[in-house]
Amino acid sequence: MGDKEIKFPDGFLWGGAFAANQVEGAYLEGGKGLSEVDIFPKSDRVKGGIFSLPYGEIIENAQDKDDKKYPKRRGIDFYHHYKEDIALFAEMGFKVLRFSISWSRIFPNGDDAKPNKEGIIFYHNVINELKKYHIEPLVTMSHFEMPLQLALKYNGWTDRRVIGFFMKYAETLFKEFAADVRYWITFNEIDATIHIPFYGAGIIAEKTSNVELASYQALHHQFVASALVKKLAHEQYPGISIGCMVTKNLKYPSTCKPDDCMQWLKETEEDSFYADVMAAGYYPYSVWQIWKNKGITVEIEPGDLELLKNNTVDYVAFSYYASLVTSADGASKEKTSANLLVGEKNPYLKQTPWGWQIDPEGLRFSLNQLYDRYRKPLFVAENGLGTFDVFQNGTVEDDYRIDYIRDHLKALKQAIGDGVDVFGYTYWGCIDCISGSTGEMSKRYGFIYVDQDDEGNGSLKRYPKKSFYWYKKVIASNGEVL
Ligand code: BG6
Repeated sequence: MGDKEIKFPDGFLWGGAFAANQVEGAYLEGGKGLSEVDIFPKSDRVKGGIFSLPYGEIIENAQDKDDKKYPKRRGIDFYHHYKEDIALFAEMGFKVLRFSISWSRIFPNGDDAKPNKEGIIFYHNVINELKKYHIEPLVTMSHFEMPLQLALKYNGWTDRRVIGFFMKYAETLFKEFAADVRYWITFNEIDATIHIPFYGAGIIAEKTSNVELASYQALHHQFVASALVKKLAHEQYPGISIGCMVTKNLKYPSTCKPDDCMQWLKETEEDSFYADVMAAGYYPYSVWQIWKNKGITVEIEPGDLELLKNNTVDYVAFSYYASLVTSADGASKEKTSANLLVGEKNPYLKQTPWGWQIDPEGLRFSLNQLYDRYRKPLFVAENGLGTFDVFQNGTVEDDYRIDYIRDHLKALKQAIGDGVDVFGYTYWGCIDCISGSTGEMSKRYGFIYVDQDDEGNGSLKRYPKKSFYWYKKVIASNGEVL
């Protein structure tokens, strides 16, 4: 099909995305408790992201009151700017805003007997503001922000009791917000539990003798919790849709040498494992084999596997930023990073200053791969360009960002032409926010510039960039004007 004949479906959900811990700030206001990421100091592009700390430092930082030192404590102060920010999203024509609710704003310690009313009121206010502009809220329940106390007291998701705390949180959210929120995601990039266990599941390395086993155990608990949420939604809130959310770690084999292709297949199967469990309802053979080879025994209670099988998600959401290359003898090859993973460089691709390789065609590839595997509606929950911006004359001339998004949207459109069912696209970091990995402000993604530097200095004033007006036209034309 020629590009011109392919259309984005009517009602396609155009919008943007961010997470509570990267935007809200007000980390102890309104009764909020400390979340696990509130204790991370800023890192930088050269040193790379910080995803865990020694136990002693976690305790020390938790007691430190210096909020400038810990960027996720301040975010971009969305907590006090939400009306202004949502008005800007409405001006762009957003149909959807994907945001997360901070678990520690609702249950400050995670295991509290009662939810924190002030936290609930805050999210009602946000959702009402979105409704005012007919913007659909899409809520992530857990986006790297488990209450720190759950990590300290239970070693995070390694303890099965945390499923119960999460269910109490989920029940509270449904009771309060299900009437207004149709689309939900249980866990952001659930694969993070294996790649970055503290960040993804609150696992403190010193508190376990085998981090890998603990990570798989924690992940199993998260899968069970997610299936229980799906069951609850299905039985009591029939109008709502529950999605999983995975990092789409796209890789290509470095050559057509059978060894390289075998390595690629192996890694692709491993990367597919998370959505296999949540969308297809089974643990794939490759994972049982990994456990067998490593002598890992995950405690799976009677009934768990059946629960997973009978409560698969309604849609598959994923983040896609970059692709990597893999080969059988990869050790000597030049490496670069792509979101949560490190892999080989691709000589055909350019990369961002943070080393993430820009590969729009890979989005089409990923959409086809995921749709072929799960046959469930897909949602592009994150995609975006994080780079340096130059703020001049009250704006940013970010043509490079426009090019990035245009190329990815063209690829998305081609995937629609291939027959893939995809119902929305939320551009990541639609307003500049704190980087998830490094805590920097200078890794900017937004359509809206926020006046704040890496150290937390600045007026926090918001300014539309050139891409703001471009994306507005894209949405108004339902993707015809790219
Ligand atoms: C995703 C996360 O992995 O990547 C986001 O869900 C994160 O929280 C995004 O912000 C981009 O990563 P970074 O490190 O550039 O902010």
